[in-house]
Amino acid sequence: MLTNTFRGRDFIAIADFTREEIDTILDTAFQLKLERARGVQHHLLADKTVFLIFYNRSLRTRNSFECGIMHLGGHANYLDSNSVYTPAAAGAEKAYVTERLEDVSKTLSRFGEAIAIRIYGEAAGWNYGQGNDYVRAFAAAADIPVINMEDDKYHPCQGLADVMTIKEKLGNLEGRKIVMSWAYSPSRKKPVSVPQSMMAACSFYGAQLVFARPEGFELDPEQIAFYRANADRYGGSFEETDDMRAAFEGADVVYPKSWASLRHVAPAVPVADWDEQDKLFDAHKDWICDEAIMKLTNPHSLYMHCLPCDRGFEVTDSVIDGPHSVVFDQAENRLHGQKAVMALTM
Ligand code: CP
Repeated sequence: MLTNTFRGRDFIAIADFTREEIDTILDTAFQLKLERARGVQHHLLADKTVFLIFYNRSLRTRNSFECGIMHLGGHANYLDSNSVYTPAAAGAEKAYVTERLEDVSKTLSRFGEAIAIRIYGEAAGWNYGQGNDYVRAFAAAADIPVINMEDDKYHPCQGLADVMTIKEKLGNLEGRKIVMSWAYSPSRKKPVSVPQSMMAACSFYGAQLVFARPEGFELDPEQIAFYRANADRYGGSFEETDDMRAAFEGADVVYPKSWASLRHVAPAVPVADWDEQDKLFDAHKDWICDEAIMKLTNPHSLYMHCLPCDRGFEVTDSVIDGPHSVVFDQAENRLHGQKAVMALTM
């Protein structure tokens, strides 16, 4: 018997869920995708409102949530954090400009049925973990589910879409060599949320996970410990390397993207040290996904990216527009995965 363990739950991090629960979300996502193609209409969110609070810009997340909520018969209410009294934590308040985030959360709980939030980078003070603390504080005060639309630690909706896309294209992840790699970019302020959630999701499915990055672009050690433990538990493996070419050798999936160095933001340093980080970035301009490095991968390997990507830096046009690329399937699967999360939790 399937027990619904989801009703009323928050969706903040992949690691908050069991393998069986992630399977259920993915099964639901695949079903909703098929039903959408067949023209089946749903009213699962009829009379329900989801508040979408954005502290950062977005194309995919905002539009996939708004469309997904509409597909399920609900109402999406977009809130730009600057056009409401900006929800702020105690101590970060400014009279009549901000509002204590717990007060916002309790108020919205009286009006609607879910709150989704995106907060990272500048909005979270470039203090690693603060964005996630904000999302969890919203959730603690809310009487309705809170969905993480990306904070400075996690992008669970992206992780779901990533694993869904790999399953869709390769059938399973078991024994597959899946590479998450850092890549150079002139934009140096991207959070670590995508690599951390992608590897968390893949670690449940027996993959040979390889994490490639130059020295200085390591991820949160607690997250790495989670991937290792999970890989062990579910018959996979986890390996870390500073050799991009070795990582790509024989890979079934490659996911090269840029992120900021955790060594150069708080709490590792008192305030973000962008000049020092520039030196680190500039030393690794050769970390690009081009046709030459793709030739090292398996003939039918997948090239993945959460988008937006920095063309000509993280990846060449010939790769992202070429036969290995599945980036628009990934983007589409954001829609189906998030619909599944809302259908189950709301
Ligand atoms: N991948 C992703 O979250 O895209 P947006 O920043 O456009 O929402």
